[in-house]
Amino acid sequence: MSNSEKSYKKLLQFQHTTSVLNSCASVLGWDRETYLPKSGISHRAEQLALLFGMSHERSTNQEIEEWLSDCETSDLFNDPHSESATNIREWRKEYDKSVKIPRNLVEEITHTISMGHKSWVEARKKSDYSIFLPWLTKIITLKRHYAELLVTDNKSIYDALLDDYEPGESAENISQVFSQLRDELLPIIDNIVNSPHQPNLGIIHKNYSTKKQREFGELAAKTIGFDFDAGRLDTVVHPFCSKLGPNDVRITTRWDTNNLVSAFFGIMHETGHAIYDQNLPLRQWGTPAGSSISLGIHESQSRLWENIIARNKPFWTYFYPKLQGIFSENLSNTSLESFLHAINLVKRSLVRVEADEITYTLHIILRFEIEQSLIVGDLDPKDLPEVWNKRFKELFNLDVPDDANGCLQDVHWSHGSFGYFPTYALGNLYSAQFYDYLKRQSPDIENEYTKGNFLPLLNWLRKNIHSKGMCYTAPELIKDVTGESLNHNYLIQSFKNKFYPLYSI
Ligand code: CO
Repeated sequence: MSNSEKSYKKLLQFQHTTSVLNSCASVLGWDRETYLPKSGISHRAEQLALLFGMSHERSTNQEIEEWLSDCETSDLFNDPHSESATNIREWRKEYDKSVKIPRNLVEEITHTISMGHKSWVEARKKSDYSIFLPWLTKIITLKRHYAELLVTDNKSIYDALLDDYEPGESAENISQVFSQLRDELLPIIDNIVNSPHQPNLGIIHKNYSTKKQREFGELAAKTIGFDFDAGRLDTVVHPFCSKLGPNDVRITTRWDTNNLVSAFFGIMHETGHAIYDQNLPLRQWGTPAGSSISLGIHESQSRLWENIIARNKPFWTYFYPKLQGIFSENLSNTSLESFLHAINLVKRSLVRVEADEITYTLHIILRFEIEQSLIVGDLDPKDLPEVWNKRFKELFNLDVPDDANGCLQDVHWSHGSFGYFPTYALGNLYSAQFYDYLKRQSPDIENEYTKGNFLPLLNWLRKNIHSKGMCYTAPELIKDVTGESLNHNYLIQSFKNKFYPLYSI
């Protein structure tokens, strides 16, 4: 065995142990959000801080530098999309980042965030921004400092933060795509909300037993490809999907007896995330070649299943009779067409997480603009509510009644997650572009959905996206798969194709 091969083997072993350690933290984190009793929270924080500290220490171990240097001059590093080159490249990136960040900064950020999060919860509850302001100011200062340590030559400090979520992207590119998107979305939204042909929402808001909702949600998740032998569904306040380890991917939802579909689409969304995680190459678990590419690509999978598949007619041609069978007392007199219209309501609203798939993007554009100004220092945190409300009015033509429904509604900034928001909209864009390409290759694929057969779609996603791990960056992958860089026209066109007929436009 050559020197470089020996070093690569050592790296694999070392990083595998770090990944197992991190997966222990994932179990504790999942438990904190699901079943941990309230009084157990402070010990849980101590457990997690210990594991994160150990993990950070491992990630700055000097031997990594030596092993990487051996590998980088060897054949293992030749083919950029190979398993070994991918691992070496990503481990190098991670190592170089880790050593630039002193441990005391990691600890200060962790501590400030847990306090800041607590103050955000209270501020939101009382709709009182002044409670959160000092903590937000401190979080921004720390994250700016963190970004300044990581920033490279031709990038902005916001790019350095974005890199934690969407490697390979830049604020400049996203700004360009978003501004075209915004200009084309606004008239589409106007057309839809001004159409006299509006859905009847009465059928959605009857009484629906959550036990039966669960039965149906699990049936749909299983049918589209979620493996319940390697995952489970639990109940939470804020739904998420968590990868705890190989063959253990868990989804969550929240139930509402007076809403037929909110839990259901939550399940479809999280199932989309889970299907990606369950189909990453198992043999490479714990290495970059066995990991997901970026949050934007992850979100493209959740939104593809939630919006492009589960909010459309072929899917419901198969599932609606089953849903009618389960809730016959409520749905027997409602046609498939009325149901489809009702699950595709478009309406300007205040809260991002309740937004429909079209206006959703505007919520993201607003946050993307504002968080850049906060990070570069153009916007003083004390002026946030005023700027938020003014920009919201310009984009949505709605007055924000209070900060709880305005700048305090989202958890992200209290977690220090600056650069996270744009990945949601990138997910929409990627999903539309992937799907448009797939449909041109397989024009009859949607006939299969009407028979409950989602395997051709799942297999396409496995082959083109899931199996590739991190061997491509997101911009490389979209180009490699569809032959084209990210293009907002696919999303715009998919909205017109779907919503204009529904609203008789
Ligand atoms: Co998601």
